Amino acid sequence: MRVLGIETSCDETGVAVYDSKGGLLAHALHSQIEIHAEYGGVVPELASRDHVRKALPLIREVFHQAQISSESIDGVAYTAGPGLVGALLVGSAIGRSLAWAWQVPAVGVHHMEGHLLAPMLEAESPGFPFIAMLVSGGHTQLVKVDGIGRYQLLGESLDDAAGEAFDKTAKLLELPYPGGPELAKLAQDGDPKRYRFPRPMTDRPGLDFSFSGLKTFALNTQQAAKREEGDPLPRQTLADIARAFEDAVVDTLMIKCRRAVRQTGVKTLVMAGGVSANRRLRECIGEMMVKEGGRAYYPRPEFCTDNGAMIAYAGWQRLRAGQSEPLQFSARPRWGMEGLEAV
Ligand code: KG4
Ligand code: ZN
Repeated sequence: MRVLGIETSCDETGVAVYDSKGGLLAHALHSQIEIHAEYGGVVPELASRDHVRKALPLIREVFHQAQISSESIDGVAYTAGPGLVGALLVGSAIGRSLAWAWQVPAVGVHHMEGHLLAPMLEAESPGFPFIAMLVSGGHTQLVKVDGIGRYQLLGESLDDAAGEAFDKTAKLLELPYPGGPELAKLAQDGDPKRYRFPRPMTDRPGLDFSFSGLKTFALNTQQAAKREEGDPLPRQTLADIARAFEDAVVDTLMIKCRRAVRQTGVKTLVMAGGVSANRRLRECIGEMMVKEGGRAYYPRPEFCTDNGAMIAYAGWQRLRAGQSEPLQFSARPRWGMEGLEAV
């Protein structure tokens, strides 16, 4: 079975073809960074318009890459939510329409399920059950995964998502959008001993997170430094603040993952979503899981952030189980993962 996957939930147009025998045949991505950079964040209307411009050319590009034609496609998967409603509607409308034109089934995929299954695109992939830590721009969740569509939420962020905290703190440090990777880059030159940020909600039981306080802590640290060193701050001080922030997020995520692993006895951990591209986080989680006698899995960095490959794969899992949508579609900007149908 061969599935076309389309991702348009936010600021990246991603398209891919997944084949049950050949694996991932082709994938292409268009990032809207340049469009949104001057606004310092994603402008939803501009995102939708750009998805309209890019989706069909990208679909042609992956067909060309894979040397296939539309006749060989057996199903279409598109991101139906959660995300920006206008952006979701573009991918859903195109995906559903193409499936109708080609007379094949279509399925609306949950974006976070896409992220969660992305490690399965790799040669060494995790078996069920596993604990998934989803860390993206909109979500921070710990989920027990017993199978596809069998998700139990163990904990989540009560305020900002981890990626959102990275982005907001990066903005504070006057780094360009998208903040997360820029902050991580700056932190490489930071002195880990100069500042110490708190590890929120690690001193009490439970698996929920709270990251909004770290951004305030960063602001206060920055203001105190400016009083001492002047404004603008030297690059080294900014790097030291970035490093302290990154260490606090990484350490907090690691502590909660370890707690989830110990509580459930499940020794396989999957990490996915944009923030899982963070090198320090990958190292820290990997080492922790070895110490716990288990193993951590993550997608290759390019499949940590939004992409079409994870949507094609998740869609294939559902289509091959006989699930599909009627001749209508809806975008679901807010959509919980626990109510998803099991496969
Ligand atoms: O999964 P994703 O591409 O989009 C959403 O579904 O939200 O995640 C994007 C988030 C952004 O907040 C971005 O700053 C963050 O992932 N991110 C990173 C890194 N790469 C992306 N955060 C920290 N370190 C990185 N290397
Ligand atoms: Zn995402």
